[in-house]
Amino acid sequence: MLSLPLGGGVVGDLVGFAAAILRRGVRFVQIPTTLLAQVDSSVGGKTGINAPHGKNLIGAFHQPSLVLADTGLLGTLAPRDFLAGYGEVVKYGLLGDAAFFDWLEDMGPAMAAGDMAARVRAVTRSCEMKAGIVQRDETEQGERALLNLGHTFCHALEAATGYSDRLLHGEGVAIGCAMAFELSSRLGLCSQENPSRVRAHLRAMGMKTYLSDIEGDLPDAAALLGLMGQDKKVVAGQLRFILARDIGDTFITSDVPADVVLSVLDDALAQR
Ligand SMILES: NC(=O)c1ccc[n+]([C@@H]2O[C@H](COP(=O)([O-])OP(=O)(O)OC[C@H]3O[C@@H](n4cnc5c(N)ncnc54)[C@H](O)[C@@H]3O)[C@@H](O)[C@H]2O)c1
Ligand SMILES: [Zn+2]
Repeated sequence: MLSLPLGGGVVGDLVGFAAAILRRGVRFVQIPTTLLAQVDSSVGGKTGINAPHGKNLIGAFHQPSLVLADTGLLGTLAPRDFLAGYGEVVKYGLLGDAAFFDWLEDMGPAMAAGDMAARVRAVTRSCEMKAGIVQRDETEQGERALLNLGHTFCHALEAATGYSDRLLHGEGVAIGCAMAFELSSRLGLCSQENPSRVRAHLRAMGMKTYLSDIEGDLPDAAALLGLMGQDKKVVAGQLRFILARDIGDTFITSDVPADVVLSVLDDALAQR
């Protein structure tokens, strides 16, 4: 028996999870049709569904036998869905490949406008990076957590907006990456130019960059920090962050003072 999810991340995660539990695992081939699914969710074997208690709480690691990504399918995506997927593409440059981020600064706008060669290169490089990390650390004992750059902030924002259309996952990742660089700069780990450069690129792409780009009310900083604490990646009550020394140079740490996180959130909310 073979399952064939054809669709975006939602379909891939659902069918992948079904394949993981059916007869304790049947083979499946991912055919991702969104940019987010092609660069991220179809690769690496994380499958899951949301539960009333939280995102992806029910899930399994189950590797697809094959991932078939046809970049021609991206031509029909709504611009908002394309740019949300681009949030994960930028993440790869930021987490481990400064030259890729440089290239995205040059080529991102052309890629969004439909440049096929640029789309192929971006999808290829993103998959290479993810596959390399997953091969070295499939079950997230260490390095794989770098793929969560921006996601601690993102998951709090997704929870605060009720997992609704107010904020797509990839949009939350983009804002979250900007905030992770801001936090790193406040902690003196990277230069102030780094978060500015991240935000400038997101702005140039017409992407959500600041909390003020999210429509409607958001809870206060303390409540957002509380939502971060509900993330399933919290280990022994310690929030875990991916922080940066520079663009393309990140590391995992649980050693982040809550008051600095609160000040980053407070200032971001004050700009609304
Ligand atoms: N498993 C993982 O490792 C992982 C990683 C990142 C994100 N995710 C999950 O992926 C989900 C988001 O995935 P997504 O951004 O692909 O969203 P999605 O699956 O909701 O797709 C976005 C929209 O695009 C439409 N669509 C799909 N393909 C299309 C095409 N070729 N042309 C036109 N429209 C098309 C869909 O019908 C949907 O309306 C989130 O639930 C997120 O949590 C999982
Ligand atoms: Zn993500």
